[in-house]
Amino acid sequence: MTIDPEDVRRKITPRTKAIIPVHFAGRACRLDELEAIAREHNLYLIQDTAHALETEYHGRKIGTFDHLASYSFYVTKNITTAEGGMVTTNDEEIANRLKIYALHGMSKDAWKRFSDDGYKHYEVVFPGFKYNMTDIQASLGIHQLRKIERLYKRRQEIWQAYHEKLKHLPLILPTEAEEGTRHGLHLFIILVDTSKTGITRDELLTALHKQNIGTGVHYIALHHHPYYKQTYGYKQGDFPNAEFISDRTLSIPFSAKLTDADVDDVADALNRILN
Ligand SMILES: Cc1ncc(COP(=O)(O)O)c(C=O)c1O
Repeated sequence: MTIDPEDVRRKITPRTKAIIPVHFAGRACRLDELEAIAREHNLYLIQDTAHALETEYHGRKIGTFDHLASYSFYVTKNITTAEGGMVTTNDEEIANRLKIYALHGMSKDAWKRFSDDGYKHYEVVFPGFKYNMTDIQASLGIHQLRKIERLYKRRQEIWQAYHEKLKHLPLILPTEAEEGTRHGLHLFIILVDTSKTGITRDELLTALHKQNIGTGVHYIALHHHPYYKQTYGYKQGDFPNAEFISDRTLSIPFSAKLTDADVDDVADALNRILN
């Protein structure tokens, strides 16, 4: 479910500016290769690390690779500030520009314009956004930082329990982490292949809801949404791998807050429906 570096190579054109790999569900993309391709072709590597706070690749935290890694602390994420996120970069110039972009394009000194040293006029150095995280949100986030490993351990237990309890069902379960990598364990996604289950993903989803089990669909392929179809002329068959996942993907409850009894409830419901 992650980007294929060989396919990236094939798709680079003179207009390509960046590679944006998504570490989907927390599973690391092949970062060594992607970083090498980006350097070779002088492209930015902008990692979508929203699912991958804990993910590591070949001994490195993923946020330490070129050039940018963009994390989300939205409520559904492994730690949260309700809304907001974080960008890591190994490029000081980018770091400085991002800070300016995030607050109206105001020069760095503008941050300190109400300091005890007296008032300073701000300067807008380019058009920016209002993308700053509030101090109140940051104070939530700081306290969540120390919970990361404890919550991760609990998700590891649930991950293993699901694998054990669901392995005999006709479902495609998440692939284990590649050797030398650490999976962020953000979502537990099962793929529902109707030729094996006899029911569609949506039928399974509805049956689970009737048994009071919440689910998610990560994600309906972008090119199936009306805006992208109409604007770019995408059609069925354009992105076969994304379509394969889009038609079959189903996320079952997965959070450190689940009790063992909750995990049993989910597994029992799937067993009842699919057996
Ligand atoms: C893979 C992925 N990328 C990006 C985002 C966007 O993060 P945010 O909602 O913090 O903007 C999300 C989730 O919301 C996500 O799941």
